[in-house]
Amino acid sequence: MHITIRQERINDQAEVYEINTLAFGQENEAILVDRLRKSPSFIPELSLVATIDDQPTGHILFSKIYIIDSNRNKVESLALAPMAVKPEFQRQGIGGQLIQAGLNKARELKYASVIVLGHEHYYPKFGFLPAEKWGIHAPYDVPSSFFMALELIPDGLKGVHGMVSYPEEFDGV
Ligand SMILES: CC(C)(COP(=O)(O)OP(=O)(O)OC[C@H]1O[C@@H](n2cnc3c(N)ncnc32)[C@H](O)[C@@H]1OP(=O)(O)O)[C@@H](O)C(=O)NCCC(=O)NCCS
Repeated sequence: MHITIRQERINDQAEVYEINTLAFGQENEAILVDRLRKSPSFIPELSLVATIDDQPTGHILFSKIYIIDSNRNKVESLALAPMAVKPEFQRQGIGGQLIQAGLNKARELKYASVIVLGHEHYYPKFGFLPAEKWGIHAPYDVPSSFFMALELIPDGLKGVHGMVSYPEEFDGV
């Protein structure tokens, strides 16, 4: 099985919609991806697809977010969301490869950190730690162990704290 991770192309968009719909069993995340692509938070280099024999089977997106403290200081970061692998290709390491490739590209683009809201046993494998370690909080009512952050460079979150502000496209998802 030959897995390639590459930047999403325009003609992948329909397949990315389908991957998200099948993986999540609903269209919300697929619609979110379509909306984020048109937003100022979108970073084309950080919308990646995994292909097997040139066939898209997985997708990951990182979008621009801000961490805002009580003095309204804003620090730019990235949100990893959503990520999806077609059900029949799950548990074969494709998700892990998408994350690694995304983190490497984000580092190359000089981002300092990534935030994720997700499975507490999955993301720590890639270095994510509970965001509360830095005093970084979710704008949603979620268990703190599900809300994680990762420093892409040493001390990438040193002195950074506050609440994450997601692009409005996330509202209601
Ligand atoms: C999460 C997802 C992208 C992972 O992709 P993948 O290619 O299966 O990931 P990998 O093969 O690299 O890793 C598999 C690991 O993922 C973890 N995992 C996958 N789905 C999980 C779930 N629903 N709950 C908890 N852990 C999960 C497991 O730890 C699994 O490891 P194991 O096989 O040793 O038990 C894929 O399962 C998926 O599309 N899920 C539905 C959509 C989703 O929940 N997306 C993430 C939230 S944004």
